[in-house]
Amino acid sequence: MIGLTPAELSYGLGISKSTAYTLLEKRNNQSEETAQNQNKRIIIPSNVIRKLLCERDFHYPNLNISFQVVKGGAGKTSLATNFAYRCAQYGAKVLLIDFDQQGNASRCFNIETRSKPVFLNIFRQECDIKDAIISVNEFFDIIPSNLNNSRLDYEMSQKVSLNIRDMLRKLLEPIRSNYDLVIMDCPPAINRINASVTCGSDLIVIPVNPDQYALDGMQFSVSEIEMIKKDFNLKDLEYKLVWNKYDAREKLGAIYMHALVKDAAMLHKLIPIVVRTDTEFKNSVHEKRSIFENGKKSAAREDVDELTRELLGLRDWSPKKGKG
Ligand SMILES: Nc1ncnc2c1ncn2[C@@H]1O[C@H](COP(=O)(O)OP(=O)(O)O)[C@@H](O)[C@H]1O
Ligand SMILES: [Mg+2]
Repeated sequence: MIGLTPAELSYGLGISKSTAYTLLEKRNNQSEETAQNQNKRIIIPSNVIRKLLCERDFHYPNLNISFQVVKGGAGKTSLATNFAYRCAQYGAKVLLIDFDQQGNASRCFNIETRSKPVFLNIFRQECDIKDAIISVNEFFDIIPSNLNNSRLDYEMSQKVSLNIRDMLRKLLEPIRSNYDLVIMDCPPAINRINASVTCGSDLIVIPVNPDQYALDGMQFSVSEIEMIKKDFNLKDLEYKLVWNKYDAREKLGAIYMHALVKDAAMLHKLIPIVVRTDTEFKNSVHEKRSIFENGKKSAAREDVDELTRELLGLRDWSPKKGKG
């Protein structure tokens, strides 16, 4: 069962706690739609939240969002997986595609990937895309990855007729309408896989950390995206930066942040959210769960929730009166 607690829903949608509880009670009276999760917390299921938001004229964005940066360890996987899970909790229908041969995103959801079809098999047309999808819950599916994907870039380079620009959207076409969001976790590389993911993205999120290597990596990735955007004439492709691993106690963090925002073009790209350093990211990987499947409050939860609401368009959305 996936969903949000009444308190999370109240904060997330900007409605009062009493309204959230009233909704819960109303739903309770109508049906068996509320439930308790393993932590014995009352949760409002994602299908109820979806109904609620749609009744109030909220439209889930229909986007392909990739998390990319050439630097490893910047937080692509941590942010992509937890953002994807949070979107599903808010009632968005999500497909997460793991393009990284390390399969870290897949392991976050306790998926044994070795024997599973991966994107390479879809590319080779050995497997129907529908058969490569694993359902984590009714709002959240994943196409996992494993070491077999390390052949993907080479095989793409050998295919003379390869259309990098349209490849991803074409391969996704049979299943695309089942989802609001397709979220992609990418390897830290400049290769054909990432170029085709860039072409197939509406938005690229680039995690940036407060250190020089990360800033260099970010600049390299931004130049690469700009080049692909120009070469393939991708007018609508957007990219944004998200500040990850921020620690207020580190003086250098403020210095690097200052250096970044001094550049007006970069400031314009910066998502107004800071994801703080928090061991909960590592703990959740160890426990093979998202940061949200743990009753405890954490900086990680707060910050990725803000990021989710920002990208879903919930932060500046105000609820119109619905049917309740
Ligand atoms: N905000 C954060 N606070 C603390 N640790 C983080 C944070 N973001 C990521 N990490 C940790 O940093 C490591 C690298 O993150 P990961 O998401 O795998 O990066 P990438 O996918 O870009 O290589 C992981 O161990 C992860 O748990
Ligand atoms: Mg990764």
